[in-house]
Amino acid sequence: MKLKLAVLISGRGSNLKSLIDASSHKDFPAEIVLVISNKQTAPGLDFAKKAGIATIILDHKKYPSREEFDKAMSAEIEKSSAGLVCLAGFMRLLSPWFAERWHNKLINIHPSLLPAFKGIDVHKRVLESGVKTTGCTVHFVRPEMDSGPIIIQAEVPVLPGDTEDKIAARVLAEEHKCYPAAVKLIAEGRLKIKNEQVVITAD
Ligand code: GRF
Repeated sequence: MKLKLAVLISGRGSNLKSLIDASSHKDFPAEIVLVISNKQTAPGLDFAKKAGIATIILDHKKYPSREEFDKAMSAEIEKSSAGLVCLAGFMRLLSPWFAERWHNKLINIHPSLLPAFKGIDVHKRVLESGVKTTGCTVHFVRPEMDSGPIIIQAEVPVLPGDTEDKIAARVLAEEHKCYPAAVKLIAEGRLKIKNEQVVITAD
């Protein structure tokens, strides 16, 4: 039985695409059963449609509160019987209620080496800070933004003459490897969380 995934997006969807591509291999231990977008115009929805994956648009502006919106999303995820929720460029802060409901079943990808550079405008701040290395992180989600046990990270160099776009592209290429790799580890049951640290067991 493959692990069922719900993927939440707001925009471009290149990380969703990397998960779709990984799932197209018959040995990959997870399958995407639902894509939710809070934006009707999210280009990433096309990747899901082309792959024949169910999509739902839930406009957050139509809900009286963050928690009401999160409860509507949660109900759709439950209906899909997904066992893992993957945030992939989902540009809404989630309520503590949602983070608790999907505790240890909710993961995110962030374009920095967390805990460094939480939040937005990451690559701009990386450039300004003068660090020589950056990267990406896949982590379990906790109620505090961009925090939670780290599953996998990949590093890339910050090079002389770099621009935000150049760093973003270099990091994104690693994101597209890390997200499927993290999902695979979870789907194979090879992760334990002890004292809020991820422990990976051997093959
Ligand atoms: C990625 O850089 C991801 O790390 C961040 O938002 C961006 C989403 O890109 N959370 P895409 O929509 O997956 O192409």
